Amino acid sequence: MSNNPRGFGTCHWLREAFLAVPREHFVPERVWWPARDAEGLYPLCDRRERPNAWLKAVYAPGAPLITQLDDGAVPPTGRAEGAFTSSISSAGVIIELLRHLAPEPGDRVLEIGTGTGYTTALLTHRAGADAVVTVEIDAALAERARDRLAALDLHPLVLAGDGERGYPAGAPYDRIVATASVRRIPPAWLEQLRPGGVLVAPLDSPFGHDLLVRLVGDGRGGARGRALERVEFMRVRGQRAPVPYEELGWPTEADPDHWQTLDIVVAPGRQRIFPATTPQPAA
Ligand SMILES: C[S@@+](CC[C@H](N)C(=O)[O-])C[C@H]1O[C@@H](n2cnc3c(N)ncnc32)[C@H](O)[C@@H]1O
Repeated sequence: MSNNPRGFGTCHWLREAFLAVPREHFVPERVWWPARDAEGLYPLCDRRERPNAWLKAVYAPGAPLITQLDDGAVPPTGRAEGAFTSSISSAGVIIELLRHLAPEPGDRVLEIGTGTGYTTALLTHRAGADAVVTVEIDAALAERARDRLAALDLHPLVLAGDGERGYPAGAPYDRIVATASVRRIPPAWLEQLRPGGVLVAPLDSPFGHDLLVRLVGDGRGGARGRALERVEFMRVRGQRAPVPYEELGWPTEADPDHWQTLDIVVAPGRQRIFPATTPQPAA
């Protein structure tokens, strides 16, 4: 992890949002724990069978809970095997995402990857329902998230669709946050970010983990910034297939110990990641 202070720190609005939004409201009754058991399967945590264990799992700060395997092909009826395709992100990682995003009240915010709607609720608590748009590729998940949010009288715009395209009708955004990782920053996100606006997203890296990056937009489809944290997220659906890292703008010999000093520069049609000592090209 980086040397950045972790947790709420002096971020009072975030602490207040966490206290105001009940996390358990967004967690389905049956979820998978993200570590394999002795037989290599993900154990099911069922609220009706073990309510205390379920609640403990919900509030375990470092663990996401898996709400979908293999795009919904695996029913939540028992321990199982499969690729993680939706979750409620861990509290710890959401704190990092939102602390670095730093939305202000009234900021226009676009979220990609609604999942359960929990992060959306925190964003709505901060920015206001009129200011938040969230896009989820799985229509059933989007509908469930919309219902859960409405039950708390939170009414952001919840859309079913491919978040890689953003939502141009709501642009320009002051803040864009993705809770699914990308190999390549989708051009639409930077086209829809206002000049000086902030994008926080997990970016795949050649180091065996994602990097949480914070980029500042130039309003012309470009942006630049740094990696802030090592994280692990599920990939956006359209970018699951591996791509050689050189084609994604990574240096051929990127040093895994120096990820914090990489500059990330995105221009329309191209992204580049390079050691910060190299003079920066214009975005
Ligand atoms: C880690 S989960 C989000 C968790 C959410 N932050 C929460 O706490 O509930 C990632 C979500 O991104 C969604 N997703 C994947 N590709 C997407 C895309 N292209 N557009 C929108 N959502 C996408 C997945 O279906 C999944 O629900």
